[in-house]
Order: sequence, then structure tokens, then C-alpha cells
Amino acid sequence: MVKRALIYQIYPASYGNLQFIASKIPEIATYIKPDYIWFNPFFESPWREGGYDVANYTAIDPRFGTMADFRALIKIAAKHNIKILLDLVINHTSDQHEWFQKSRYRDPIYSDYYVWRDRQLNWQSFFGGPAFKYDQIRGQYYLHLFHKSQPDLNFCNPRLIKEFQKIIKFWIDLGVAGFRVDAANVLTESRFIHGLLPRIPGFFQYFQTQSTVKILNRLFANAKLFTIAEPIGGNFLSHRKFHQLTNRAFDAAFNVGILDVADTLFSDRASPIPLNYQKWFKKLTRWTPEPKLSFALESHDTPRAPSRFQTDPKVLAMLQFLLPSNFPCLYQGQEIGTKNPNLSAKLEDYTGVHSRSIYHQLRKKGKSEAQAIEIVQQVSRDNARQPLDWRKYQAQVQPPDSTLNFYKQLIALWRTDPVIIHGQLQVTKITKSGIFDFQRHYGRQIYFVHLDLSGKTPSTLKNHLGSVLCIC
Ligand code: NOJ
Repeated sequence: MVKRALIYQIYPASYGNLQFIASKIPEIATYIKPDYIWFNPFFESPWREGGYDVANYTAIDPRFGTMADFRALIKIAAKHNIKILLDLVINHTSDQHEWFQKSRYRDPIYSDYYVWRDRQLNWQSFFGGPAFKYDQIRGQYYLHLFHKSQPDLNFCNPRLIKEFQKIIKFWIDLGVAGFRVDAANVLTESRFIHGLLPRIPGFFQYFQTQSTVKILNRLFANAKLFTIAEPIGGNFLSHRKFHQLTNRAFDAAFNVGILDVADTLFSDRASPIPLNYQKWFKKLTRWTPEPKLSFALESHDTPRAPSRFQTDPKVLAMLQFLLPSNFPCLYQGQEIGTKNPNLSAKLEDYTGVHSRSIYHQLRKKGKSEAQAIEIVQQVSRDNARQPLDWRKYQAQVQPPDSTLNFYKQLIALWRTDPVIIHGQLQVTKITKSGIFDFQRHYGRQIYFVHLDLSGKTPSTLKNHLGSVLCIC
């Protein structure tokens, strides 16, 4: 099991294609030196849901290049000691996947690959609206916890485990080091199919059953892979429970709890609530010391952190690398302080289903068109999925006080400083105005961290002698 690693996340569409990503690996290695790069899906897909609607798990979507390009990318990454993680979207496929197309026709092999039912239940999908859709050809409803173009696989069918074992082997043989496992805690919800689940957010936590754990163990427990789970929904306790239960299957768990921006103005939810630093810091205090949790401030699903938390990217860098964290996860472009772009005021310019779903939910709640679009501009996933600004990157290489070089300095501390690696966390002050003071204790050493997200006072890291190790 891997106990500590720095992960760098790449959303391939922001780069264009795999060849271009490969050309950037030396830079990423120089400035970040991650242990792993996690790629969001680049598999064949009709791209209704940002690639999380996979039509073929062992083919690269032509928009990103070829298998030869991917081999070359792995090679160059290995030269720089970076290992590759792929995104395994295991809960659902695209409705264009051959399995689904055959399942609709009750092909004897594929008939039970998905969750089919004669009647729909009152379950709500993650993107809003009913979680069941009627299929004319089959004459039954299928379950889709996410978008209607993403039918849920039926993991009560043992054939599916075999299918995914083959897929995993395919990529491992190519040199992939592991996977980030999408929506890992909701694989066997069909066991609840006879009951009615309440229409409440967080009902996903009921799905963390022994049957899901068994499947995850069969897929991952004995393999020499680095695996990071993405549990969705739930709260601190249900996540902790999930980590304990899946201890053998996963090295780490992607901490959606921290990323879950329900507490911030720029929530990716349909009803964003005002940013509450106090609540957020308390949450961080509780989550970050968990040894297997990854700590991310951004992802392909969230707005950019400096915009979301309305603060200097350097302060966020200190927050991320000075709190305890065995698996910090850096999202592409975070290291140059990328902010939200000014997204379009026209709904038709938004890609993917998320922005549309938020817009329609807002309209249903009585928001005017203009109000709904204004919120979509702030919360849309498109904020994080733009092409990276390479000119800005280049401009930050030389100046010693650039955000990029600040990240470099903090990453070096995270890697080498025993107090940052092992120190116990003790929080000393949290205020509504954005002050977060904490200490890290290791043996006789104490580090004092003062963070001020309002920017009114400098944020600092000092050692017990009062020497300033880091300031912004
Ligand atoms: C989690 C991914 O991060 C998100 O982008 C996607 O919409 C859902 N899983 C469904 O695959």
C-alpha cells in the first residue's frame, strides 16, 4: 500500500490531446514533480458527460489521439518518475456502449448487465430529475444515478466483475500504475430496488453495503496497483466507514467531503449558500488528519478555488500543503493561480449536462433567466475545464515570487520537512473573517501557521524560534 503521494490531476480536454500532454510532462515534472498523474477519462465516448459516459473502456477517443500516443506518454512520464492513474468509471457506461445496446435487446449475455425494472421508483438522479428512464426497445425502465445517457451497471451480475478485471488488466499491461475509481460506493444499489428511497440528498450513503465492498475487494485488493476511491454523497462518518470497509481495496480516498462546496458561495449545487470560512476551516480540521484521505481544493467538478474562496492562490497553497495530508491532489493550473474565466451568458455555450441541470433546477425554483445564468456562470464545471493559460505559466517560471514558485517551495516542504510530514495538528484560532491559525507538533518542534484568507495580514509559517519559513 502506498502511504503518501502527491497527485496531479489532468482533464485531457483542457490540453487538447495526448501528444500535447506528453510534451508538457517535463514541465510538470520540473515544477510539481508529482508521484502520479491522474487523467480524467479519455476513452471512446459520445461526450455527453465530460467523458464519464464511456462507450469503450479499452479504446482512446480519437479526439485525444491513438494508443501509440498513450504509450509514448507513459514512457515519457516514466522517464520523469511519474506514474499514470486512469479514471475507471465503473458504476455506469454510456448508453452507446455495446453492452447497453445489446442489453436493450435482451441479448442473453448482456441482458442483465444493467438495472432494468418494470416500474420506476421515486429515486432522484444526481443531476436532478427521475433516476429511471423508460426504454422503448426493451419495454422496461433502466436506472441511471447520473445522467440518462449513463445507465447504471448491475454489479449483482458476476460477469461484470470479469469484464472489469479484463479492462484493468488491459491498462496495467500497457504500464498504467493504478486507478481513480469513480463513484465507487454506489455499485450495488440495485439491491435496494424493491424499496423506496427518500428523495433526500445524501441517500447515496445507504448504498455502502458489504456487497459493494466485496466487489471492490475482488477487483482491487490483490492487485499491485495504486487505487484511489471516489465515494460520492454521504458525510464524514459515512466516508470514514467506507474507508475502513475498503481498506484492502484502496490506498486512498478522494476527499469529496472537503471539495463538497455546499458551504460556499460558488457551490456546484443549485442553491449555493454564502461562503462561511469558519464552517469550512472546522471541516478541514476534522477531515485532513485522516491518513488515507486525499486533500484537494479543486477538481474538474468545481469552480476554481481562488474564485470560490475569494482569496490569494498563495494562501490556498499554504492551506493545502501545511495542513496534514498524505495525498494532496493538485488540479491542473492550480499552481499558477488560475481563476474562473468569465463564462458565457448563453446556456447553449455550456458543454455537458451539469450546467444545464443546474440551470433548470434554478428556473424551477423560481429564479429568473438572468439570475439562473449568473449562478451557472459561477458554479459551472466549465470553470475548471478550460484550456490552460500557457503564457501565464511561462511568465511564472522565472520570477521567484510567482505563484508557481511558491507552490514549488511548499511542495518541497511537504516532501522533506518532518514537522509537515508527521506533525500533529492543533488549531488555535478560527474566525469568520478568514483567519485560520494552527500549529504542527512533532517531538520538540512546533510550527506556527497563520493564514488570513482576507489578505489583511500576511500569511506565515514560522518555526518555534520565530524564524519565518514561508510568507505571502
Ligand atoms: C464523479 C465525477 O467526478 C463527475 O465528473 C461525474 O459527473 C460523476 N462521477 C459521474 O461519473
